[in-house]
Amino acid sequence: MKNIDWKSLGFAYMDTNCHVRYVWKDGKWDAGELSTSPYMPIHIAATALHYGQAAFEGLKAFRRKDGKASLFRPEENAKRMQTTARRTCMAEVPTDLFVDACKRVVKANLEYLPPYGTGGSMYVRPLLFGSGAQIGVAPADEYTFLVMVMPVGPYYKGGLKPVRALILDDYDRAAPQGMGDVKVAGNYAASLYAHESAKHAGYPVELYLDAKTHTLVEEFATSNFIGIKPDGTYVTPDSCSILPSVTNNTLQQIAKDLGMSVEARAVPYDELPEFSEIAACGTAVVITPVYEITRGDRVIRVGAPDGCGPVLQKLYDTVQGIQYGVLPDRHGWCVEV
Ligand SMILES: Cc1ncc(COP(=O)(O)O)c(C=O)c1O
Repeated sequence: MKNIDWKSLGFAYMDTNCHVRYVWKDGKWDAGELSTSPYMPIHIAATALHYGQAAFEGLKAFRRKDGKASLFRPEENAKRMQTTARRTCMAEVPTDLFVDACKRVVKANLEYLPPYGTGGSMYVRPLLFGSGAQIGVAPADEYTFLVMVMPVGPYYKGGLKPVRALILDDYDRAAPQGMGDVKVAGNYAASLYAHESAKHAGYPVELYLDAKTHTLVEEFATSNFIGIKPDGTYVTPDSCSILPSVTNNTLQQIAKDLGMSVEARAVPYDELPEFSEIAACGTAVVITPVYEITRGDRVIRVGAPDGCGPVLQKLYDTVQGIQYGVLPDRHGWCVEV
């Protein structure tokens, strides 16, 4: 076990023992290899660098109460990366290869997996990109798939501490028939400026409205939107330009298991004041309660700034309980490493 202060880990890059890397050429993936160097040579005409043929994923591994290590729903990330690969004309990584790669690199870095009880986990970051040379705008003839890992603590320091969100009407994240529903790298370049502006103004997260009408709630830059109605209904936006979040899908199932109603539908901005709890959800953040949403001069207050609402807290405790092996895994979400 590494000598790391597990309890004060943030969400930051850290070198570990190795990553695992595969190359696709002439229609097939090679057997992959573990590489101890975090650097790799890359062709100066690689399509990832010029034309943005690059996609990533994010999932987590947990040290469970029984001492075993497990990945959370890796097949879902494999499927989402395949959707992104098709949309950006990249070679697809088959689900078996994807899951094997994640297991392989977690196993090779087990001493970086935070111990049970520290609140930490291991962030697993798969990356797929066009590594073949191409100077005309066209798909590459070679692709690289790699998976790196690093130990992480809660995304926002202070755990489930509610945050303020900002709607910036001058920037959109994704167009209706664009690539908002896939995890292509360029989507994040598109959101960086708005994110930095929001941060500078004192808002840790920014909320995007639909690009066409600016009347519907879409999602945060790196997480989906969840609203809880006073009657306990779980509401989340349904839109073709939102990334289908594995965490949101998981929380919807948990909400149903807890007997709550779940509605995935258009969510008007004007409905925001009707929610009793609002949160951002995603692998890195799990759930981040949002207590205030600012748009221009209008400030919508949805909860208390000093604590998480009871419904979100219950959902959070349940998902974490399943991930750490404290609650039964009724849906077979945990994959042993
Ligand atoms: C734009 C966007 N929305 C939502 C999410 C949350 O998805 P997941 O729960 O699969 O991490 C992410 C993170 O991957 C994201 O980048």
